[in-house]
Amino acid sequence: MPQEPLRAVIIGAGHRSVLYASYSKTHPEELQVVGVADPDPVRRERTAQEYALPAERVFLTAEELAARPRFAEVAINGTMDRDHVPTTLPLLEAGYHVLLEKPVCPTREELPALLAASRRTGTKVMICHVLRFAPFYAAIRERVAAGEIGDLLSVQTVENVSYHHMAVGFVRGKWNRRATSNPMLMSKCCHDLDLICWMKTGVAPTRVASFGGLTYFRPERAPEGSGDRCLVDCRIERECDYSAYKHYIEQGLWGYYAWECLEHLGSPTVEQKIESLKTDNPYGRCVWRCDNDVVDHQAGAVDFADGSVATHNMIGGVARPCRSMHLIGTHGEIQGTMEEGKFVVRHNDARPGHEYAEEIVDLSVSRDMHGGGDLRLVADFLRVVRGEPASLSTTDLMDSVNGHLIAFAADEAMAEGKVVELPRLTD
Ligand SMILES: NC(=O)c1ccc[n+]([C@@H]2O[C@H](COP(=O)([O-])OP(=O)(O)OC[C@H]3O[C@@H](n4cnc5c(N)ncnc54)[C@H](O)[C@@H]3O)[C@@H](O)[C@H]2O)c1
Repeated sequence: MPQEPLRAVIIGAGHRSVLYASYSKTHPEELQVVGVADPDPVRRERTAQEYALPAERVFLTAEELAARPRFAEVAINGTMDRDHVPTTLPLLEAGYHVLLEKPVCPTREELPALLAASRRTGTKVMICHVLRFAPFYAAIRERVAAGEIGDLLSVQTVENVSYHHMAVGFVRGKWNRRATSNPMLMSKCCHDLDLICWMKTGVAPTRVASFGGLTYFRPERAPEGSGDRCLVDCRIERECDYSAYKHYIEQGLWGYYAWECLEHLGSPTVEQKIESLKTDNPYGRCVWRCDNDVVDHQAGAVDFADGSVATHNMIGGVARPCRSMHLIGTHGEIQGTMEEGKFVVRHNDARPGHEYAEEIVDLSVSRDMHGGGDLRLVADFLRVVRGEPASLSTTDLMDSVNGHLIAFAADEAMAEGKVVELPRLTD
């Protein structure tokens, strides 16, 4: 029987929520946007217009929307990191199922409240671990779940962030300070830590060690001739790989961050962008003279209850953005880089003249940043809410929590130079 589309409210009409909500345009039979809440007048009005929302369905905040009788089944919560749990709790109490952006929260103390509210109200909370839905990781997970490489002994992941992504997000941008966002490993690598826990579904992580620091994007590393702003007082702007003009105007990268302060203009001209970078735009600042304090590289090691181990390496200023994974099991291994869209499955081959056998699994490469995972995640969330079987990528909220517990512990381990035992959260 055809079903009515699920109705959604957008909570925080920033770039992430709007991306997920765009699923309603390609699949109107599954999803319909019927409300919005955002304190930002430009974003609120733009969304209201885009989805032809009546005034009584347009709100300043999530809290205000949740206080009204529920008028949709799901909420897409793309507020910033520190607003996730405070905005989600009232939505759960009002009976909304919530698609919630990662990372869940900046402190581990908020996790139990979210778990408890979801259990008590019988509502679903799905965390936007979009990489689980990327064909690359989904296909690897299927192989692991089918037992193709036996029991996992070692999981190694690497995230090479890239010089331009590091600069926009974690040096100049919204995730550059622990006090206002999160530790870097949580902000950038909670996906990778989640992938590790997802590959090890059912086995609890127990201990974490970690090392790292902020060594490069510091004032004492500023090159001779650099200034405070690329387009104001820098004499080496044309030679610099971190020029704001090169990244955000010439290369046209990261527009949804760099031009946030010009959103009221609609489509700013190049002249307006240059003026903005010269004056008050935080993305016009020299990367060696920002207010950043999050690390630019970090490595962590995790011990699991079954004696297996995982390591994750995050490196900020590399040339090529990419994520890789190497899983070693009792009966084989899987290795690959997501951006290459393929991985290799290896098995021992002890015959004379052989050493190992290889199967190369070639998937079509998606050009989007999350390997094609973003909208597949929305599709699965809607299946869960409709009570239909979900894919292997969707697991219980508790599994998402484990990756976060590792990130909190890694931060503590790195800061205090110790091995941190992980707490066991229970339902
Ligand atoms: N899944 C991923 O791979 C991925 C990638 C990038 C960012 N993120 C995460 O997505 C989230 C959103 O990032 P973004 O860049 O889209 O953020 P954003 O700052 O562009 O949007 C957040 C919006 O929330 C609104 N808001 C603030 N308080 C509110 C409230 N009480 N009620 C309703 N709205 C409120 C703000 O006005 C803003 O418009 C962040 O947590 C970020 O870490 C996830």
